[in-house]
Amino acid sequence: MLSRAGFACLVLPLVVAPLAAQAGSPAGPVPVSRLEARRAALLDRIGTGVAIVRSADEKDIESDYPQDSDFRQDNDFFYLTGLETAGSWLVLVAHDSLPDQVILYIPARDSLQEAWTGPTLGPGPDATSLTGIADTRPSRSAKKEIRDLLSTPGTIFYYPRYGGQKDSTLLRELGVNDSLGRAIQKRNLRALTGNLRLIKDDDEIARMRRAIDITAEAEREAMKSARPGMWEYELEALIEYTFRRHGAERVGFPTIVGTGINSTTLHYDKGRRQSQAGDLVVMDIGAEYGYYTADVTRTIPISGHFTPRQRALYDLVLGTQQAAIDSVRPGITIGQLNGIARNYMKQHSGDLCGGESCDRYFIHGLSHWLGMDVHDVGDYSKKLAPGMVLTVEPGIYIPAEKTGIRIEDDVLVTGTGYDLLSKGAPRTALEIEALMRQ
Ligand code: GLY
Ligand code: MN
Repeated sequence: MLSRAGFACLVLPLVVAPLAAQAGSPAGPVPVSRLEARRAALLDRIGTGVAIVRSADEKDIESDYPQDSDFRQDNDFFYLTGLETAGSWLVLVAHDSLPDQVILYIPARDSLQEAWTGPTLGPGPDATSLTGIADTRPSRSAKKEIRDLLSTPGTIFYYPRYGGQKDSTLLRELGVNDSLGRAIQKRNLRALTGNLRLIKDDDEIARMRRAIDITAEAEREAMKSARPGMWEYELEALIEYTFRRHGAERVGFPTIVGTGINSTTLHYDKGRRQSQAGDLVVMDIGAEYGYYTADVTRTIPISGHFTPRQRALYDLVLGTQQAAIDSVRPGITIGQLNGIARNYMKQHSGDLCGGESCDRYFIHGLSHWLGMDVHDVGDYSKKLAPGMVLTVEPGIYIPAEKTGIRIEDDVLVTGTGYDLLSKGAPRTALEIEALMRQ
């Protein structure tokens, strides 16, 4: 992160093998067999062509104002290499008849830089043993060599999202001339990696289970500590402390703790209000562990018990959620689950919402994919299949009553139904009130 000249003579650090693959993280490195299987699946989908995946870059302490001390890798790059190296490129070349090629470009070691930020991984045997990629090269040759790979017009050139920019930016950075740039057929790599990442392998599911268990523990800790008069930031601090003390590297998204009126703002993350007796508190939180995030929401009464009206609305949201969860199985779509949830809410609203259906206050979608991104990549029209993980999160938000209620759980699709990964967080009104009494 910090680069300073002039101190090279002070440090010549030793290399430790797992340096760039989650060094020291309780999540540990991704098994090479999984990385190889993911790259093979991607090469298979490419058919013929060149895929280019860029790593993330280091943040600069002077201009980026990083909030965390740690570097965070690009998700596709981590998924395919397991590495936490900045300034890197992964190139996959899929041929019709020739064997496929995988090339990893990572920065050569630099003792000057290492004096500031510690030992790094360079190209060579350590990088190969961590990734299973035999062909590792220094990043400084990447642009020229990739340009050479793309020199044949007609080569299909896939690209991932690239800083939100158009592909031409990448072509320009690589120094590809305009006429060749026009001749190259371009496809979005993200569509391929997105649908690969939709089905989680066993290493991914293990990481998600841990992220979700830690998050459920943080919900329980918050329930036990919540008292009227607490500031939102106090609950936020307790939640994030619980994440970190269990080995989660960071939050998967900004922590949402909304009391009173703030419970009705879907993505309220300022955390600056002092709670008052009788408030509801929406806690929508997710620990990130080994690059995978949880996303669990619980709504609690700050005073330890729901009022009769809060309880009736809460039970309506809970029943809606249960109807959708009970329907999770291979073959159904998120769109169909959404319909099931809304129908349930319509049919069970009674006179809770002034004679109208309460689903007019259910102002967001029911579900999203969950994984390395909190709103994970992948086609939302796909039928559920074993290995997919989705959230189920109905809500009711009535600002005029300062009442927001959301209940969100993380669900793994299995061969016959589902596994409720977030069951460790109390969910019924009675369970929540019982824990808050402790
Ligand atoms: N947890 C935030 C969201 O799902 O949008
Ligand atoms: Mn969510």
